[in-house]
Amino acid sequence: MTASLTIPVSIAKDLLTGAEWSPADTRELLQRTADIKARPSRFTSVLRGKHIALIFEKPSLRTRVTFEVGIQSMGGDVVFLDHTQARLGERESIPDVARNLECWVQGIVARVYEQRVLEEMAASINIPVVNALSDKFHPCQALADYFTLEEKVGSLKGFKLAYVGDGNNVCHSLLFLAARLGVNFRIATPANYAPAPDVLSDAKRVAKETRTRIELFTNPTEAVAGAQAVYTDSWTSMGFEAEEKVRRNVFKAYQVNRKLMEQAAPGAFFMHCLPAHRGAEVTDEVLDGPTSIVLKQSENRMYVQKAILHALYS
Ligand code: CP
Ligand code: NVA
Repeated sequence: MTASLTIPVSIAKDLLTGAEWSPADTRELLQRTADIKARPSRFTSVLRGKHIALIFEKPSLRTRVTFEVGIQSMGGDVVFLDHTQARLGERESIPDVARNLECWVQGIVARVYEQRVLEEMAASINIPVVNALSDKFHPCQALADYFTLEEKVGSLKGFKLAYVGDGNNVCHSLLFLAARLGVNFRIATPANYAPAPDVLSDAKRVAKETRTRIELFTNPTEAVAGAQAVYTDSWTSMGFEAEEKVRRNVFKAYQVNRKLMEQAAPGAFFMHCLPAHRGAEVTDEVLDGPTSIVLKQSENRMYVQKAILHALYS
């Protein structure tokens, strides 16, 4: 990849879903990430004088650390608000929280149980709001995932990615961005766990423009046939713990193991957003295997998020 493109000035104020960004915006964001990763010293004062609030209703390792380190490495500062004990909106309304924060900080990065909380925050204030994972989307993750693939294979156009498991937040974000980046995406889920219809229809609309194929399956073997990368995520996402027993049963046939990986293209990458549940959605052998790129995905979270903030503040 070559240096510096300019994010269009019309870029949306917030990153709430990933659908705010056009195919061109998304492509430019990956380019900007490459730039920041290659020459971090050029970006050390991009966030100078800026304080960003990180509000987390759920636990996190990767997202919290990569935002904190990434923001500080660009000269900014963070205020961490641990909301794992009390949901946002319980003590005072979401707009009241957001309007107060706007008096002191220049941006909000939030991990929430409900997507609507992010939308309400963003609509109440003029500073950027970034989705650090909700029940419905995880855009920072999917951007890092495609950046990682692009580093591995060069152009993503026509790349064949298979996702096996729950049609959840991570799957939704992978879908939106697959359509925007021209990645042919095959998804295998149990019938009642398919991606949400509204996400699917937006992705399909964009996929038509970008001539990308999006296909749904219930049979994991069919979905991974010939895939160049196989992605899975936890069967029980945060917030769905009450369903864990049922889900363990429903998803049993969706485990990514050696046998399933053998159906993919030779040397196919294994991907997972982490945390992984070893022996459930993926076996140790695959997770720790030679084609697993899970730690690269984690590493790249920081560069992608630095690029997102750079774009939002440019
Ligand atoms: N992948 C990811 O978002 O990890 P954390 O839950 O640890 O932040
Ligand atoms: N789908 C998972 C992703 C964790 C990063 C969850 O929401 O818990």
